[in-house]
Amino acid sequence: MTPRHFLNTQDWSRPDLDALLLQAAAFKRDKLGDQLKGRSIALVFFNPSMRTRTSFELGAFQLGAHAVVLQPGKDAWPIEFDLGTVMDGDTEEHIAEVAQVLGRYVDLIGVRAFPKFVDWSIDRQDRVLESFAKYSPVPVINMETITHPCQELAHVMALQEHFGTSDLRGRKFVLTWTYHPKPLNTAVANSALTIATRMGMDVTLLCPTLEYILDERYMGWAAQNVAESGGSLAVSHDIDSAYAGADVVYAKSWGALPYFGNWAPEKPIRDRYRHFIVDEAKMARTNDGVFSHCLPLRRNVKATDAVMDSPRCIAINEAENRLHVQKAIMAALVKSQG
Ligand code: CP
Repeated sequence: MTPRHFLNTQDWSRPDLDALLLQAAAFKRDKLGDQLKGRSIALVFFNPSMRTRTSFELGAFQLGAHAVVLQPGKDAWPIEFDLGTVMDGDTEEHIAEVAQVLGRYVDLIGVRAFPKFVDWSIDRQDRVLESFAKYSPVPVINMETITHPCQELAHVMALQEHFGTSDLRGRKFVLTWTYHPKPLNTAVANSALTIATRMGMDVTLLCPTLEYILDERYMGWAAQNVAESGGSLAVSHDIDSAYAGADVVYAKSWGALPYFGNWAPEKPIRDRYRHFIVDEAKMARTNDGVFSHCLPLRRNVKATDAVMDSPRCIAINEAENRLHVQKAIMAALVKSQG
């Protein structure tokens, strides 16, 4: 049975994920449909976006639905998420009312809510997304919180297109940490690890030090996936051996979890590893591998111009696929509601 919400791919069975990818390919061939005719979706953004907002709005339109974008604290009331709070501060209404009211208006709710980067033990609860899912009478879609499952499917779709097969087992997949001047969200890294292991790939997590290992929940999902899919998972701090023979290089920068809330000591550590940039010399060590990134990407910080402009870069295809996979997700969730 299709899950009620799309919060993480790990909640969805492999056949259900494969069905979403097949439907996404059909939407890529034939863009318009009536699967969401007369329906609507609220897109709730607590953080900025270019790709997610554009692709969800257009995807809804192309299937006959209307999208309403809300930015709490900007063009909508600030929302309280804690229970039992005496709301005499900045928040004007509680998630219990927000989610229930939105659910009376729309058929789907999308939520983007990044971590606050102060206390990982709180951020890892994914409280904003989980609260919407708890109180909403309609399906909720994760538009990036502490994971980014829509990006996962778009990435897999781009890899399947590149390799000409839905079977990605046995491909060497390198998830490489890259430098960025700021400590970024671990969401895409968590997601890349999750979906690459789910697809049975041989995954190497390349990061500067053990402090950049991802949260135990996502390392655990990856280990579980490897056991079920027959892939493998390794952690490496050695650039040359990690890139050697890689079929896929996926880049992302993220902040080291032990420094959440006290980022000052992390900055000099991060600064020492600027050489993790994806460049032509590193890509030359791969098995004629492809490069991708979720975007946005700072050129010549995370990856060089030459890598981004190479025909081996599939980041634009991946970004396009956001549109197709999200249409498949919206259509599947609405259909499951009857
Ligand atoms: N990859 C991604 O989610 O892009 P935006 O932040 O622009 O939505």
